[in-house]
Amino acid sequence: MHKGKHAAALAAVQLVKRDSILGVGTGSTINIFIDELAAANIPLEGAVASSEATASKLHEHGYEVLDLNMTGSLDMYIDGADEANPNLQLIKGGGGALTREKIIAAASKTFVCIVDDSKMVDVLGDFPLPVEVIPMARSYVAREILTLGADPEYREAPRTDNGNQILDCLGMHIDDPEELESIINNITGVVSVGLFAARAADRLLIGFADGRVEERMAGDT
Ligand code: A5P
Repeated sequence: MHKGKHAAALAAVQLVKRDSILGVGTGSTINIFIDELAAANIPLEGAVASSEATASKLHEHGYEVLDLNMTGSLDMYIDGADEANPNLQLIKGGGGALTREKIIAAASKTFVCIVDDSKMVDVLGDFPLPVEVIPMARSYVAREILTLGADPEYREAPRTDNGNQILDCLGMHIDDPEELESIINNITGVVSVGLFAARAADRLLIGFADGRVEERMAGDT
């Protein structure tokens, strides 16, 4: 068990309102969160899942999975990240679920991000930035990414839950995350980019190996 992830996941369980509709992200930290939510016997009216994998896990624990089109906006979305900076801006999509994650984050009042301390960076970009693309646009988008000074690698993996493909963009030193997010979003054929900058997290729970959890809120810096 990864202790930092576990500590952050446990802290997030404390924030969940009983009988609410909760947005639930994807990844190993979120898997721990779902297990702990169930272990704490916290009932939900339902959950909106950012991936098929998360939906299955929620089902296994007896939680109902709802369609975002039927729920309206959500009070809270809880998800992990691959990197987080002091402004609570994130790189996400290591697990390939970035587009649905962005949709749920956009539709939620509060986005709580849970990470272990290894995910904290001053400048985003050491983690290869995932970009989900329409399959026929893959090479075109890759050439455009090259002009931004990054090295796009085609992810040899099954298609995303949306039937698309992922380019992992290496060598990005992201000084202005909002600007880069907008530039990449504007490349034709891009479905979404795993930069969560314009819509960053509202609360960040950072778990440490000794069980400690530090919380940062938007506007703290
Ligand atoms: C899924 O697509 C990602 O955005 C995850 O939230 C991110 O990769 C964090 O994953 P771990 O919790 O497994 O580190």
